[in-house]
Amino acid sequence: MTTPAVERSLVLIKPDALRRGLLGEILGRFERKGLVIEALELRTMDAALADQHYAEHVDKAFYPPLKEFMTSGPLAALVLSGDEVIAVVREMIGSTDGRKAAAGTIRGDLSLSNRENLVHASDGADSAKRELALWFPKL
Ligand code: PPS
Repeated sequence: MTTPAVERSLVLIKPDALRRGLLGEILGRFERKGLVIEALELRTMDAALADQHYAEHVDKAFYPPLKEFMTSGPLAALVLSGDEVIAVVREMIGSTDGRKAAAGTIRGDLSLSNRENLVHASDGADSAKRELALWFPKL
């Protein structure tokens, strides 16, 4: 039997979640799953951080509205850890568009949008490494 890998993921609980009073609901889901919150900070993304964080998307048509939304107010930046946490969190948040995300996922239960979709999470080991270094360089 192989031993599961303990990993870290960078998770952002987005400004729409804070505006809607869903921070506790979303954090509670991660806690009940058994994930460990290693760091948690309320931050407001500025334009430069948005351009770095979303470097792979800056030339896409959806980037200007995404940037405007992500810099529109405070968000909660988290470092979560646990066995295979990167894949586990992606499964828990559901697919990008809340209208299509499966029931039982955070987006499927709580979002009706592909922009205001409540949570960002690293989508692989490379992006987790890059995003953790960007948001929590001292960790
Ligand atoms: S891609 O091209 O498949 O990698 O894009 P995807 O993973 O679906 O989405 C990447 C992030 O862009 C956001 N997004 C949007 N924002 C605003 N408007 C539109 N139309 C839009 N479509 C996608 C999406 O919420 C993803 O944000 P993060 O923070 O990475 O979850």
